Amino acid sequence: MDGNGRWAENQGLKRTEGHKKGEAVLMDCVDACLALGEVKWLSAYAFSTENWRRAADEVRFLMGFSRDVLRRQRDVLHEKNVRIVWAGRRPRLWRSVIRELEIAEELTKDNTAMTLVMCVNYGGRAELVDAGRKLIKDAQEGKIRPEQLNEQTMSDYLYRPDMPDVDLFLRPSGEQRTSNFLLWQSAYAEMVYQDKLFPDFTPQDMYDAVLDYAKRDRRFGGTK
Ligand code: IPE
Ligand code: MG
Repeated sequence: MDGNGRWAENQGLKRTEGHKKGEAVLMDCVDACLALGEVKWLSAYAFSTENWRRAADEVRFLMGFSRDVLRRQRDVLHEKNVRIVWAGRRPRLWRSVIRELEIAEELTKDNTAMTLVMCVNYGGRAELVDAGRKLIKDAQEGKIRPEQLNEQTMSDYLYRPDMPDVDLFLRPSGEQRTSNFLLWQSAYAEMVYQDKLFPDFTPQDMYDAVLDYAKRDRRFGGTK
């Protein structure tokens, strides 16, 4: 979800106004995926491990806002049969945000329409480092031997072991980079970059991205 700050600055507003606009847009993204029917996982990059570098007041806003969005939207998402899960690192993240994430996870744990992964204090490298730490610990305790580690067992050490590989990696706002999002999971993702800033993003932009994706020839390193 990128471009909130630029959207606000373009209209002479505070950056935080762009984030506020993003709440309804994210909910529209969920609805668009539900309407598509076959999208079973949607991961939203809400706050990265690098976003702590921002001005203290913006970081504070984003923490409070994440907490409030979860509080406001979890029942709405639950009504829609959406399962909410969190992917991210615990240290540094506000306790109130972790609490809301855990309440949302517990409330929606049996929902089946779609899984919405809220990536909060998430970083792809941090995820791999955290996986490495767990792995070393398990190895020291004799729970896993080096030969047992493969690409499948590696996934067990990521934040959401049940998360499938990314098919469509969609980034708005004109930037063409992954910015440390889902590094392991998007090894063979189809990249779709759009120029619109996130607050202007509409369900039609989601459908356009999916149409774009549907035209791609995915070979996964093989041949046809
Ligand atoms: C994305 O919008 C939201 C978060 C990272 C929380 P930005 O805040 O990155 O907006 P730009 O990129 O500065 O326009
Ligand atoms: Mg940005």
